[in-house]
Amino acid sequence: MSVGRRRLKLVGILTMVNLFIYVIVEVSRSDSQDKNADGQVLIPSGKFWKKRSVSKAYWNREQQKLDRLYNPILNLLNTSSVEEMVASNTSMSDSCDMDTSIQAEVKDFAQLPDRFKDFFYYIKCRNYSLLLDQPNKCADKPFLLLAIKSLIPQFDRRQAIRESWGKELKINNMTVVRVFLLGETPPEENYPDLSGMVKYENEMYKDILLWNYKDSFFNLTLKDVLFLRWASHSCSNAQFIFKGDDDVFVNTPLILDYLKTLSPEKAKDLFIGDVIRDAGPHREKTLKYYIPESIYTGSYPLYAGGGGFLYSGSIAQRLYKASSKVLLYPIDDVYTGMCLEKIGIAPEKHKGFKTFDIDEKQKKSICSYTNIMLVHPRKPQEINKIWSMLQDSQLNC
Ligand SMILES: *[C@@H]1O[C@H](CO)[C@@H](O)[C@H](O)[C@H]1NC(C)=O
Ligand SMILES: *[C@@H]1O[C@H](CO)[C@@H](O)[C@H](O)[C@H]1NC(C)=O
Ligand SMILES: *[C@@H]1O[C@H](CO)[C@@H](O)[C@H](O)[C@H]1NC(C)=O
Ligand SMILES: *[C@@H]1O[C@H](CO)[C@@H](O)[C@H](O)[C@H]1NC(C)=O
Ligand SMILES: *[C@@H]1O[C@H](CO)[C@@H](O)[C@H](O)[C@H]1NC(C)=O
Repeated sequence: MSVGRRRLKLVGILTMVNLFIYVIVEVSRSDSQDKNADGQVLIPSGKFWKKRSVSKAYWNREQQKLDRLYNPILNLLNTSSVEEMVASNTSMSDSCDMDTSIQAEVKDFAQLPDRFKDFFYYIKCRNYSLLLDQPNKCADKPFLLLAIKSLIPQFDRRQAIRESWGKELKINNMTVVRVFLLGETPPEENYPDLSGMVKYENEMYKDILLWNYKDSFFNLTLKDVLFLRWASHSCSNAQFIFKGDDDVFVNTPLILDYLKTLSPEKAKDLFIGDVIRDAGPHREKTLKYYIPESIYTGSYPLYAGGGGFLYSGSIAQRLYKASSKVLLYPIDDVYTGMCLEKIGIAPEKHKGFKTFDIDEKQKKSICSYTNIMLVHPRKPQEINKIWSMLQDSQLNC
């Protein structure tokens, strides 16, 4: 063999070896799932459209009916059961009459705290309408939409957010817009009537979305679904969405810097926050998050703590579609996790989301806030203070 030929053969072999290595690397990469900050692949805890085992709990049973109803593969296997299901009207067509049939469906219904009764009597109703709308909020394509859950009486929290991290702005072609998400606090429950003041507030700031349902902890899920409906209809061009509470500090400039660096693929399926895994319903009756076994059994899917999370506009639209196939659940962030599972997206944990606060020592230094995206909880005065300290041009961290 001539030297030239041998070289050719060597080049050939090397090319084959390289190709082989390339294939191996690509195959190992191709399960390009979401990864957390440590590079671990995040796997949704449940299978897509998994068939749930038969449960005695009300929510599980009702969801199982829906899963069957909307599962095209299972439906092909047994069309008569689909017809039966549609006939028995278990679909999500909005029914807003008080549904008393639940009394017989849940074993200990009469003993449940009132908030459960209020929730389950109207669980199938979600077509509430907007009393205050912002139809032109997204006329100028938002890079980031800030959607903040608030309650009518919390004027001071909203004002602090307007003056600090929630400022609407346009820098380097990035538009940031803000809406507050509100339901009604009916005067008949001894609340002072603040509806006129909210109307006035909205005339001043044009940033209130108010729906005609009763704002309560268990109705936060309703708030989420109604917001997703609004985002899909009136703000479908938003590139990213931050949704959170009105008692958090958010480092909006840091979030904008982060979002700018994302690749188009990463940006499309972005969902980050303080992700909670291996959680399940609390069985202690005195807890805010208590859920009795007659209502729900099993674990919760991966979910991001409701204090605040960040996701893409594309995901908002997919979540809205999925939400019509998921029965309302009394805990809103868990519900978002359930809808995410349906669309096959695993929320990703990001270290910058501190929904359980930072320690006292860290709190003392303003520099702690320079690499935090969100921290909970903060009072309006604290929000303004942190914000102005971070704006200081003398800041040296
Ligand atoms: C189909 O569904 C009906 C109603 O739920 C049930 O009675 C029947 O046994 C099912 N048939 C099969 C083959 O699974
Ligand atoms: C189902 O709904 C339709 C109309 O929406 C109604 O006519 C029918 O009586 C309902 N069936 C049952 C079993 O409730
Ligand atoms: C929702 O739709 C149902 C059925 O169309 C209707 O009866 C009900 O009044 C609506 N509820 C609200 C709050 O708009
Ligand atoms: C800003 O956006 C406008 C309209 O979308 C575009 O024409 C312009 O080139 C953009 N400028 C920069 C600096 O990206
Ligand atoms: C949620 O709002 C609806 C409509 O105002 C109301 O009927 C229902 O009782 C509320 N649920 C809870 C748990 O407060």
